[in-house]
Amino acid sequence: MKFFVDTADVDAIAELNALGMVDGVTTNPSLIMKSGRDIKEVTKEICNMIAGPVSAETVATDAEGMIAEGRELAKIADNIAIKVPLTWAGLKACKTLTDEGRMVNVTLCFSPNQALLAAKAGATFISPFIGRLDDINLDGMELIADIRTIYDNYDFGTEILAASIRTVNHMTEAARIGADVATAPPGVIKKMAEHVLTDKGLDGFLSDWAKTGQKIL
Ligand code: G3P
Repeated sequence: MKFFVDTADVDAIAELNALGMVDGVTTNPSLIMKSGRDIKEVTKEICNMIAGPVSAETVATDAEGMIAEGRELAKIADNIAIKVPLTWAGLKACKTLTDEGRMVNVTLCFSPNQALLAAKAGATFISPFIGRLDDINLDGMELIADIRTIYDNYDFGTEILAASIRTVNHMTEAARIGADVATAPPGVIKKMAEHVLTDKGLDGFLSDWAKTGQKIL
């Protein structure tokens, strides 16, 4: 499973990238707002750091506007994936932009039918939002599993990009189901390294080591 980092925080991306953990980055208008940075400036900086796809989201609500914004965002770098919402206008924009050879990430997906439409429109990525479904007492992971089944049934090339990931268990489940990509906040990716038994085991080893009076260096 590829790891994308869901943030516009360049320091956080750099830290994970140094460990080889970043296969791509996703941003959205809320994350740009949170960064306090200019969208083109911060996106350019991220694209220079990361070889993989960097999603930058359009904000127009009509297809023509999304296409124009998408073309503008694509000028930032060759690794831009243009993000459009899963609306009828977004699907039109997806078709036009993918026909132009651009990467398109169709976002705000909440149903298998929406994912099916995005694949038919040639999306590079489909972004089902797990956490936001869980928020309303629906099963976000069931959506990932349904899309996996549907895409595999017909060999769609669209990659499933599990989004709105909030917990380390979301990462495990997305990987178990076979999501192609998971995009998660930096904190969730770092938390994946934690285990209470690792901490306990390390405490035990260090306390026994201290009793030996030895040094390695
Ligand atoms: O990848 C989409 C993500 O940014 C949305 O996450 O936590 O706001 O639902 P969240």
